Amino acid sequence: MNCVVSLRNVCVQLMFVLAVILNVSVAVSAGADQQDMDKYVSDLLAKMSVSEKIGQLNQLTIGFDVTGPRVSSDVEAKIKSGKVGSVLNTCTVNAVSKLQDMAVKESRLGIPILFGYDVIHGYRTIFPIPLAIASSWDMAAIEKSAQIAALESSADGLNWTFSPMVDIARDPRWGRISEGAGEDSYLGSRVAEAMVRGYQGSDLGDKETILACIKHFGLYGAAIAGRDYNTVDMSRLQMYEDYFPPYKAAVEAGAATVMSSFNDINGIPATANKWLLTDLLRSEWGFDGFVVTDYNAIAEMIEHGFVADGYHGAQQAIKAGVDMDMVDECMLNNLETLVREGKVSMAQIDQACRRILEAKYKLGLFADPYRYLDPERAGKEIFKAESREFARQMARESFVLLKNNDNVLPLARDKKIALVGPLAKSNWDMLGCWSAAGRGEDCVSVYDGIKNLLGGDDNLIFAHGADITDDQLLIDRLGGQVHRDGRSAEDMIAEAVSAADKADIVVAVVGEQGNMCGEAKSRSDISIPATQQRLLKTLKRTGKPLVIVLMNGRPMTLEWEDTNADAILETWFAGVEGGNAVADVLYGDYNPSGKLTATFPRNAGQIPIYYNHKNTGRPMSPGGGSFYRSAYLDVVNEPLYPFGYGLSYTIFNYSKISLSSSTLNSNGKIEATVTVKNVGKRAGTEVVQMYIRDMTASVTPAVKRLKGYKRVSLEAGESREVTFDITVQDLKFYNSELDYIAESGKFKVYIGTNSYDCGESEFVLE
Ligand code: NOJ
Repeated sequence: MNCVVSLRNVCVQLMFVLAVILNVSVAVSAGADQQDMDKYVSDLLAKMSVSEKIGQLNQLTIGFDVTGPRVSSDVEAKIKSGKVGSVLNTCTVNAVSKLQDMAVKESRLGIPILFGYDVIHGYRTIFPIPLAIASSWDMAAIEKSAQIAALESSADGLNWTFSPMVDIARDPRWGRISEGAGEDSYLGSRVAEAMVRGYQGSDLGDKETILACIKHFGLYGAAIAGRDYNTVDMSRLQMYEDYFPPYKAAVEAGAATVMSSFNDINGIPATANKWLLTDLLRSEWGFDGFVVTDYNAIAEMIEHGFVADGYHGAQQAIKAGVDMDMVDECMLNNLETLVREGKVSMAQIDQACRRILEAKYKLGLFADPYRYLDPERAGKEIFKAESREFARQMARESFVLLKNNDNVLPLARDKKIALVGPLAKSNWDMLGCWSAAGRGEDCVSVYDGIKNLLGGDDNLIFAHGADITDDQLLIDRLGGQVHRDGRSAEDMIAEAVSAADKADIVVAVVGEQGNMCGEAKSRSDISIPATQQRLLKTLKRTGKPLVIVLMNGRPMTLEWEDTNADAILETWFAGVEGGNAVADVLYGDYNPSGKLTATFPRNAGQIPIYYNHKNTGRPMSPGGGSFYRSAYLDVVNEPLYPFGYGLSYTIFNYSKISLSSSTLNSNGKIEATVTVKNVGKRAGTEVVQMYIRDMTASVTPAVKRLKGYKRVSLEAGESREVTFDITVQDLKFYNSELDYIAESGKFKVYIGTNSYDCGESEFVLE
């Protein structure tokens, strides 16, 4: 074996030398083992000049989707002189090939480039936004959506996605809550693992897989006041307990790269945070891939007031554990000087460069730099009918039925519908934020989806009803990109009322425009914009049943809507098949099963609001009285819709919880069982949720923490026993020394349909 390995290494070496002489790409076979890789990379490093090594740490942008104040210049010249390790924002086989050719054929060592892109919820086949797909609680489906995204993007020349975003978010003012899995660390961890598996598969050498990137490390979702890029100030305990688990889970799932975040953490920017990027990420969690900064993040440490210039920024970043610099070129421009001056060691540069070369090696780029550039693949793999069909299923699963009085839904096919609202005929908004190669014209609007389902528009009367907003500040902040109908508000509302008068039922498609979520899209008021609220209030006065179909990228405040609408269906931004999926659910061809993964507050003053809060010494609990309690004078503590909430067209009854034992020892397990029965008239899927509460602990515990869930599909009248195993692992928490331990004592277990409506039982850990 050793002989074979070394013979192969000799061959690889010879090929490399030959390649360099002939100025063609360096070739080795993909999928070789660790030893081969170490040898290959060491040999390559030995041939590289300091400047070529630093070049590998440099990522430039070329093309589109610029997300910062800087755009790269002289990209081609830099590639040819070995100053670029990776490029972002370029795709299609043609465009990527052009750049890869420059690197492989015109740079001295011919080292291939990594091509990264924000493939966040699909590439051309756009799936619902991440917050939506998390609401399916269906990890197999989530994994498949990432796998299709990898298949399509790799067919278009890419080999690296900046996804999954696993930041826990408890603040819906933050526009980027749409890009993650919501507020819970347990569920967020499962989603993170599923996405990494989906993108990377089991072999990065397979050309249908791409590198995943865990972002934004770390704690980016805890930006103060929900204002994007803002400071994070947090105790270590809270980090470990509530915010770190999804990052750690994604590392353990084998994610190849990590992105350092824009924010500072307790005074130190994440991008210069050695404790975060090295001590925790590498030493404690064992991450062995490479760390890329977020866009321009080293340079932004100047604005943070942390460093005076790019020279000090580069020094701090590499020392902290950053390997690749996204776009600002602080490393490119300063590391050589820093090495010369002895302020950064050559060993540090070598280490960062090695990690990047290893990723290229694992992808098989040294074996064949063009392996993602097969001109045949794009036509075959991108936007396949079966991927679209899957996008429709994913969308249906992600919808959350928030209200359904008197079974107003599902709709009967023979009823006349007034389909009203600025989002009803929009296909472009279905894309939501980060739509990669997605196209508005690929997407099915709600109007077209209903028309497809009904086989025509005889029972459909459309009215635009209102513009998304007339708030000039909002319009300006969106760069003027808000669709306006052009008519006066009065004319639009009058048309909507006339449509309602002629119809049996009103379906209003309202909410946020697709570009109102995502990066730099924080809102202080998370209600439906006023123009649309006026429309809803007028429609209500017509006396016709009112169904609201929401399109939006964050939890919203919906008190009026909850009180006044007959039904509310949360559809997020549902992707290419959005309209068809909405029609499937509105007309009962699919029974909704989604459950919220982020709490919907009653008003913005309740934020941050999340289910796994602590109890306080003066909880506002029944029987506790109402004076001098942890409460507001003007609103109850409970949210409008809690974490885990979502209705169905059928009804699921839960039995009492039965425990296999009332005591648990450290090696044992308890089985907690409920019988769930579908007592309604149609088949449905229920997400059965299990929560645990530690009644007394050396660190004040949360009132409840999700520890398990099961998706159960039941025919009408069918019942099923659902059992959760509880072991000591589920009872662990971080104590004040940050040891992960369980303490003996009493625990409560809750099983139910959401985080508030649960049965309960208790046991003792001995
Ligand atoms: C900035 C965003 O924060 C990050 O999520 C994204 O991956 C990069 N820009 C690259 O576009």
